[in-house]
Amino acid sequence: MAFWPKKKNHDRNRICDPAAIPYAEFHGVGLSIGSRKVLSGLTLSLKEDRVGVIGLNGSGKSTFVRMLNGLRQPDCGSLKLFGALAEAAAPELPRHVGFVFQNPDHQAIFPTVEEEIAFGLTQLGVARDESRKRALDFLTQHNCEALAPLPIAELSEGQKQLVCILSVLVMEPRLLVLDEPMTSLDALASRRIGDKLRSLPQKIVMVSHDLSHLEGFDRVLWLEDGGIRMDGAPFEVLPAFRADIDRRSGVKLELAAL
Ligand SMILES: Nc1ncnc2c1ncn2[C@@H]1O[C@H](COP(=O)(O)OP(=O)(O)O)[C@@H](O)[C@H]1O
Ligand SMILES: [Mg+2]
Repeated sequence: MAFWPKKKNHDRNRICDPAAIPYAEFHGVGLSIGSRKVLSGLTLSLKEDRVGVIGLNGSGKSTFVRMLNGLRQPDCGSLKLFGALAEAAAPELPRHVGFVFQNPDHQAIFPTVEEEIAFGLTQLGVARDESRKRALDFLTQHNCEALAPLPIAELSEGQKQLVCILSVLVMEPRLLVLDEPMTSLDALASRRIGDKLRSLPQKIVMVSHDLSHLEGFDRVLWLEDGGIRMDGAPFEVLPAFRADIDRRSGVKLELAAL
């Protein structure tokens, strides 16, 4: 499910270039919410197929990824998405960036799976009847046709999250952004969603607390206090992050023992 302002012709006067590489360019980007500085001094470009985002709670991960689809705008520095300044690009971003939230219950809004998938197509301008037919075809392509008539509320958590992912994929976004998509899933569902994500042609930026999902990624960003603590290949960043967690938990234990 994704909404964006209705435009008579999405292709006319296009601002974004969906094929732009890098697809995101941050130069000195900062963002405050209320009086709190949530992100600051971000300068980086994203061009990789698979980018992981890690960090402790409150480090700014969700705010960072929300900038990628225009849900948050920087208040200093400059951010370009698909070659266009973020503010100007915002109305077009839902077409190019599919966003999957942690909790599928916050994303799915239609009674049945087929309607949820079809809605994305109507947003693209496909007529209602045609969108239902194409939604069914799309579910069949993903071996999920049995889910089509089912009420979303009655699906397992894993099935709900899969439907949320499919509901954005049906719009063929260039980039898929996922904010802790596995958090409410059991190990099997999490493995299946991970396999599904690996098979996709889209570029992916994913926030995850389960570091094992990021092992095969091209790049991992470690956020701390709203800035980049480390940025590199998973084999460098993930062990450093794990070591930092071990060190911090050790300090806690020592304090607890006092
Ligand atoms: N809507 C909001 N109102 C006030 N503070 C917020 C809001 N969203 C995020 N924050 C603050 O911004 C900081 C970063 O939040 P967030 O990006 O959600 O971090 P993370 O996803 O890494 O846990 C946190 O301290 C959080 O309290
Ligand atoms: Mg978060």
